[in-house]
Parts: sequence; C-alpha cells; structure tokens
Amino acid sequence: MSRQVIVYAKCLKNHLSRLSRFGLEGTFFEIEGNETNKSIESYLKIIDFLIEKDFKKSDLLVAVGGGSVLDLVGFVAATFMRGVEVAFVPTTLLAMVDASIGGKNGINRPWVKNILGTTYLPKQTFLDMYFLSLMSPEELYPGYVEMIKVAVIDAFCSIDQTEERLKRQYSGSFLEDWEFPPSEKSIERARALKQGIVGEDIQEKGLRKLLNFGHTVGHALEAYLDFTMSHGEAVQHGMSVEMELLEFPLVLRQKIASYFPYKTPFPAIHRENFLKILLRDKKNAENKIALSNVLMHKHKEYIAYFDAEKVVNACLKRAHDSLYPGA
Ligand SMILES: NC(=O)c1ccc[n+]([C@@H]2O[C@H](COP(=O)([O-])OP(=O)(O)OC[C@H]3O[C@@H](n4cnc5c(N)ncnc54)[C@H](O)[C@@H]3O)[C@@H](O)[C@H]2O)c1
Repeated sequence: MSRQVIVYAKCLKNHLSRLSRFGLEGTFFEIEGNETNKSIESYLKIIDFLIEKDFKKSDLLVAVGGGSVLDLVGFVAATFMRGVEVAFVPTTLLAMVDASIGGKNGINRPWVKNILGTTYLPKQTFLDMYFLSLMSPEELYPGYVEMIKVAVIDAFCSIDQTEERLKRQYSGSFLEDWEFPPSEKSIERARALKQGIVGEDIQEKGLRKLLNFGHTVGHALEAYLDFTMSHGEAVQHGMSVEMELLEFPLVLRQKIASYFPYKTPFPAIHRENFLKILLRDKKNAENKIALSNVLMHKHKEYIAYFDAEKVVNACLKRAHDSLYPGA
C-alpha cells in the first residue's frame, strides 16, 4: 500500500489538521521552512529520513509550506530514486500563485540561489485559502506583485494581437476586478495564467522567459540592498523600471502602478556598484542587460538587450524622482 511522507514548515505545526480534507496523512517531517533551509544539509536530512522510513518508489512525498519548502522537497522528489511522486500544499500566496506552478525546484549554495535544481512537475497541488489567513498584508504582498506581473505578461505576450484587443489591454482593463488583498477568484485566475504560460514552454525556451519580467532589476536591487528590501517591493520597482525601458505608454504604467497599494521610494543607488551587480546576472552578455520583452507584439523577441548604462540611468532617474517628486 502506498504511504505518505509529509514535509512541513515548522510554523504550520498547529494547523496540520487542515490536511485531512485532502486525504493527506502519514509520517510527518518538520523543517524550518525558510530560505536558509533550501540547502544541501536540509536536502540530505530529508533523504536520510526517507531511507530510514523505507520510502518506496510507489509512496507519495508531500510538501506543505511556502515556496522554499516546495523548492526543496520538489528537488528531493526529482532526485530520490530517480524521481518519486510529489504533492504540494502551498501555504503562502507566493507559493500558491507562483512557486507551486511550473515544476521548477532548487536549493541554494552560499551566495548562489537555486544553483542546483530540476524541472519536475508535482502529481497534485492542493489549495486551502485558510493558510492565507495566517499571513500579514506585508507577507501577502510578494505574491500579489507576482499576480500583477503575470496579468501584464498575459495581456501582451501574444505576437498576434487584434487592434481591438490591444486597445483594450493598453487601457489596463485586464486588471479590473484585481484588488489587494486578492480574492480567491483572482488567485485562481493568476494560477491559470501562469499555468497557461509554462504549459506552452515547460523547458523555458521562449515564452516562459517572460516570467522573469521585473526580476532582472528587482534581483539586482535585492542584492544591492543585502536583501533588506522585500522581494515584492523589489520586483514592483523592477517592473516599473523595465516597463519604462520597454516603452510602455505612461498612462498604462500609471494605471498598473495604481494597483500597487505599497509605494515605497526607489532607493538611492551608487552608479558603479549597482552596475557591477546588474552585470553579474547570468543572462547578460557583454555590457548588455537582458530584460523580458513583455510587449511581444511590438518587438517579436522574448528577450530585449539594453546597454547596462541605460538601465542604470533609468534606475538613477527613479531614485531621483522618488527624492524630488514633481521636480
Ligand atoms: N519554483 C518556482 O517556480 C518559484 C517561484 C517563485 C519563488 N520561488 C521560491 O520560493 C521561495 C519564497 O517563497 P515564499 O515567499 O513562500 O517564502 P518562504 O517559503 O521562504 O516562507 C516565508 C516564511 O513564511 C512562513 N510561512 C509559510 N506559510 C505560512 C503561512 N500560511 N502563514 C504565515 N507564515 C507562513 C515560512 O515558514 C517562512 O518563515 C524562494 O526560495 C523562491 O526562490 C520558487
């Protein structure tokens, strides 16, 4: 008979009874469930636990937690006995709308995120909105920013657009009904949008590259600020800068910005230091920065390359405008 091993984030210890509604019960394994635990040490601890429990190829591994638990356990599932079945119970908004979809998993090494990983799809994903009631608005925010991101990508990512549809999309109407905190309906819609994109391009040869929208500048900002800025805010700033570089019309940028309830100033940056961090991104070539080319109907390529100087100047301008609004 098939058994289940359920790896869960420690902070959910008192909420595990929620799992029985999905028929999930078995042997539990607790981990801290944060970014630090996306490590080779945690990976080996889970592997050793599975060996100790005589986990069989026909058994089911279950991950309950945020994106870091899903990434870690997904990687265990992909590699243990050359692959065992895994089910996800995402418990953060980011994990529901992003990390649980598309099969990417991975663990970190010091200073290098997701350096080991595979693409391996879960057998099933179970959603329970109850878990979101345990999160503060600040904790929900990174997931919400990803929801806006995927909505923008979906609106423009097709090369073949009718003029009428484009007119509608450029008015920002695709964001109507979206609000913060998000409704269950919009969470399901955001999941479907991401699923649609990765379903067409699971190996990230083209379309899926667009999901990096906002993250080139966003990741550079996070690294520049030693991860003191939240991921949501960094990606929000990243999207604003990248939309400007991609020449989104100002009215549309303003409309999209109006859906972000938190408006923190763009931080002050030092030109040379920020440039160095931007150029570390492995997608870049020579002095060019690779950005997800969301306005596909205009540019017909998934990636657009910009002079690094131009990207830094756009960031410096935003930092200046944050300091002197209306100047
Ligand atoms: N595989 C992918 O496609 C993909 C996509 C996006 C992000 N990610 C990864 O996801 C990770 C970030 O995920 P995250 O934002 O969910 O953070 P996380 O998994 O690091 O969790 C953040 C904190 O929230 C706690 N937590 C979990 N559920 C909770 C709940 N319901 N209420 C309150 N606290 C809860 C966790 O224990 C942890 O302390 C990163 O490692 C990132 O690389 C992966």
